Amino acid sequence: SILIVDFGSQVTQLIARRVREAGVYSEIAPFTTADAAFARMAPKGVILSGSPASVLTDGSPRIPQAILDSGVPILGICYGQQVLMHQLGGSVTLGESGEFGHAVIEVTDDCALFDGVWQLGESHTVWMSHGDKVTALAPGFRPVAVSPGSPIAVVADDTRKYYATQFHMEVAHTPDGAKLIANFARHVCGLSGDWTMAEFRAAKIAEIRQQVGTGRVICGLSGGVDSSVVAVLIHEAIGEQLTCVYVDHGLMRAGESEQVVTLFRNHYNIPLVHVDAEATFLAGLAGITDPEAKRKFIGGAFIDIFEAEAKKVGGADFLAQGTLYPDVIESVSFTGGPSVTIKSHHNVGGLPDRMNMQLVEPLRELFKDEVRALGVELGLPPAFVGRHPFPGPGLAIRIPGEVTKERCDILRKADAIYLEEIRKAGLYDTIWQAFAVLLPVRSVGVMGDGRTYDNVLALRAVTSTDGMTAEAFQFPGDFLPRVATRIVNEVKGINRVTYDYTSKPPGTIEWE
Ligand code: XMP
Repeated sequence: SILIVDFGSQVTQLIARRVREAGVYSEIAPFTTADAAFARMAPKGVILSGSPASVLTDGSPRIPQAILDSGVPILGICYGQQVLMHQLGGSVTLGESGEFGHAVIEVTDDCALFDGVWQLGESHTVWMSHGDKVTALAPGFRPVAVSPGSPIAVVADDTRKYYATQFHMEVAHTPDGAKLIANFARHVCGLSGDWTMAEFRAAKIAEIRQQVGTGRVICGLSGGVDSSVVAVLIHEAIGEQLTCVYVDHGLMRAGESEQVVTLFRNHYNIPLVHVDAEATFLAGLAGITDPEAKRKFIGGAFIDIFEAEAKKVGGADFLAQGTLYPDVIESVSFTGGPSVTIKSHHNVGGLPDRMNMQLVEPLRELFKDEVRALGVELGLPPAFVGRHPFPGPGLAIRIPGEVTKERCDILRKADAIYLEEIRKAGLYDTIWQAFAVLLPVRSVGVMGDGRTYDNVLALRAVTSTDGMTAEAFQFPGDFLPRVATRIVNEVKGINRVTYDYTSKPPGTIEWE
C-alpha cells in the first residue's frame, strides 16, 4: 500500500485517485496523525501532498521523522518537494514571482519516474502552482527536469528512492501525471498494481462495521446512483441494522420510482419504506414560482417526512449519505472567504443534528465514475449505475414557474421520449446529463388545419466530468429535428421545442 500524507492541499484526493487508477491501495492521513498511520499500515511508499502553507513559516507542517528514518521510497509533490528538501538539508526561498498554471518542463536526465513516459531532452506540459521554491538541493539529490521558473522542477535521489516534483502531477492539467504516479507506485515501490474495487468494497465493509457497531443506520434513498450504492454497500456490511426510506415526492421521471422500489425490494431483498408523498409536495408547491423558494420548500418537507418515518421505525443512531468527493470540495471555500450561494442544493443536511445522528459516508473519497464502478462491483445493474445525475428537487426545478401535476405529467412524457431517442442513438453514455425543461411560455402553432396555443419545451444535454463545468452537447445532424417532431406529435400540450446551447459557466446545468 501507499500512504499519502496530507499537508492540506485541495487536490490531495486526486493523488489517491491516481494511485487507485494504478491498481494500488492507498490511504490518506493528515500530517498530524501520519506517523500513527505509517506504523499501522507499514506502506511500501509514501507520497507527500501539496499545501497552502510555506515551509518558511513557523509551525508549518513537517514530515514525521519516523517516515524519513524508515527507508521507504518517498514522492513529494509541490509543498511535498519543498518540505522534503528543507528537512533533508536543502534550502527553500520565498518565491518573488511564483509559477501558476501551465508550464513547459524539459527532461535533463534519466529518472525512474519517467520510465516509458518521458525521454531525455523532451519537453512536456505540466501544471504549476507554487510561490516558494527550492533553491539548493539536499545532499544526494540531482535535478532531472527543469522549467524556466524553476531549475529544479523534478529531483531524484536513486539511492534512497526519493523523488520530488515542483509541479502537480495529480491534476488533469499535467497530461502525463497519472503515468508518473503509476511509475512511482509500481516501479519505484515495487507494488503489483492488481488492487481492485473488490478490495475497496471489502475494506469499506470492515470500516462500516467498525464505525456502526450494533447501532442502527437509516438511509434516505433518492433514486439516484450514489444513495443506491451506499444503501447496498451498508446493507452488505450490517444487514438488518439498516433501514432505507424512499421519500417519493412525485417529482421523479417516468417509471423511476417503480424501478427503485423493485430493485431494492425484489432484487436485493432490502426492506424499504416507500413514502408516497406526491400530494403533500404538490400541495406545498402550489403558488410558488421562485426557484429558491421551491428548493427550500422541497428540502424542508423532505426532512420533515424523513424524520417522521425515521421515528416510526424506532429512530437510528446513524444517517447514511452518498456524499462524493466533489461535494466535499464544493462545500469548501477556496478563497477562505464566504462563497456565494448559487443554488441551495437539496440534501438531508440539518437532519443529523436535529435527530442527534452521526454520519456514515462511505463514498466520501470517490469520484462519480468510481462510484459507478463500485456499484457494478456490488452487482447493481450497469444500466442503473450508468444513469445520468438527477437533482434532489426533481422535476420541480425543470418547470420554471408554478409546478402542477398536469405540468409534471407533460414534462415526464416529453423527457421520456427525449431519453429514449438518446438511448436509441447510442449517445446516452457519452452525455453527462440530458433532460427536458417545460417553459412557462406558450406559442402559436398550426397542426392539421387548426391553430394551437401551447407550451414550449427546452431540451438540454451537456458533457462534463464532475458537474462543476459543462459544455452543451452537439447532437449529430438530424437528431434534434427528429426528437422535436416526435414530442410535438406525441405529447399533448407541447407545440414547440428548442435546444439550450449554454455552457456552464455562465449558465448552470439545471435551469433553476
Ligand atoms: P447546476 O444546475 O448547479 O447542477 O449546474 C450541477 C449538477 O448538480 C445537480 N443538481 C443537484 N443535485 N441536489 C442534487 O443532488 C440538488 O439540489 C441539485 N441541483 C442541481 C445537477 O443536476 C447537475 O448534475
